[in-house]
Amino acid sequence: MKDFTVENLTEEVVKAYTSKTDSPRMKQVFSSLITHLHGFVKDVELTEAEWFAAIQFLTATGKKCDDKRQEFILLSDTLGASMLVDSINHPKGGAGTESTVLGPFYVPGAPEMPFGGDVRRRHLDAANPCLVTGKVCDAEGKPLAGATLDIWQTAANALYDVQDSDAPEWNLRGQFTTNERGEYALVTEQPVSYSVPTDGPVGDMLAAAGRHAFRPAHLHFLVSADGHETLTTHVFVKGDEYLDSDAVFATKETLVGDFKVCDDAERGKQFGLTVPFVTLAFDFGLMAS
Ligand SMILES: [Fe+2]
Repeated sequence: MKDFTVENLTEEVVKAYTSKTDSPRMKQVFSSLITHLHGFVKDVELTEAEWFAAIQFLTATGKKCDDKRQEFILLSDTLGASMLVDSINHPKGGAGTESTVLGPFYVPGAPEMPFGGDVRRRHLDAANPCLVTGKVCDAEGKPLAGATLDIWQTAANALYDVQDSDAPEWNLRGQFTTNERGEYALVTEQPVSYSVPTDGPVGDMLAAAGRHAFRPAHLHFLVSADGHETLTTHVFVKGDEYLDSDAVFATKETLVGDFKVCDDAERGKQFGLTVPFVTLAFDFGLMAS
């Protein structure tokens, strides 16, 4: 038997996790994970009190999670890890629309809505009605019929439906399908900037670092079509004060949309809206899978 020391422990642990597996990926991931984790502990000379505080922090993060609250995604987002995974897997320079983080508030299974359908299942006085239109195309610009757009956003009170016990189920969520010309249309309200939840360990972490918890206003999109990579993205509101300091580092220049006031009564009538309302035109490009 041998003694494990600061000098030999990392190498021994890497060997224990990689010598009996045939998977090259597992060998690579475990080797790197253990080397970096041990490197971090050695680099900062972690104290026992700090190590235990970290265990308590991760325990609290897990306990804060339920079917509507995902504190681990929020932790990953606020540490920039989600954006790093996204950036590595979807590098810049492709022909399709740029991606960004999923965030902690996506709920699968939103109601399927018709062309031009209205996702407002409640009307708050502060909300600006908003018509969103555009196309979904392939990387060559050819319109894709039958593509699905799953959308979700905050209400004018800066809360997602899953954070707000007064909100009707599926408020400001819906799934839309493009028509034969690849077009979609939906009615919603203009998104507002909001604070990520700060009543859990992630909020404590942001406060300890002196970081604000706000995200610039955005509309979430999950766009999918047969034979194409699913696109997870946002459209941000041009001019938002938090575009330069997003709490989760998820902003991209190409994803900023121009929400414009519209006085066209005829256009509004088509979608059951009275003037003035806000419009956003935004096209999406999907990469072949
Ligand atoms: Fe969001």
